[in-house]
Amino acid sequence: MAKKIIETDLIKKYPEAILRVRSAEVEKVGHLEKVLFKQMVEIMKVYKGVGLAAPQIGISRRLIVVDAGEGPVFLANPRITKATGTQVLEEGCLSVPGAFVEVCRKSEVTVTGINNKGKFVEIKAEGFFARALQHEIDHLEGKLIIDYMTFDDKIKFGI
Ligand code: CO
Repeated sequence: MAKKIIETDLIKKYPEAILRVRSAEVEKVGHLEKVLFKQMVEIMKVYKGVGLAAPQIGISRRLIVVDAGEGPVFLANPRITKATGTQVLEEGCLSVPGAFVEVCRKSEVTVTGINNKGKFVEIKAEGFFARALQHEIDHLEGKLIIDYMTFDDKIKFGI
């Protein structure tokens, strides 16, 4: 029953306004943020996603979770401090069901932030992991994969 509620109601979907605003900085990773991180990773697992950003569940704060296959990485206030190379690959998004968009991303990124233990961390990522981090950080800026669509794709998708 709980799963049913999650699947029908919890994930915010385009064109909901919260997906289009810049999320607020997190002052610190305290008890509430740790609870949110835990909830986010559980929701991500239910949907078999590789990442989730807080605005996708209606919380306009700079919190993301990414699991590119080696366990979840939790980041508050993630910031890309270095980015090199480019890679193009098709992406989907739980908030934009039915859309698959070729997105050109940086192939290697260094991202800083605060983890779920409240510690400052610096993460070096490449390939798919780097892509997933960039996708979730986009969410915190109110940016969605549809923004990378070509004009023709937008017409096909009906936007
Ligand atoms: Co997404």
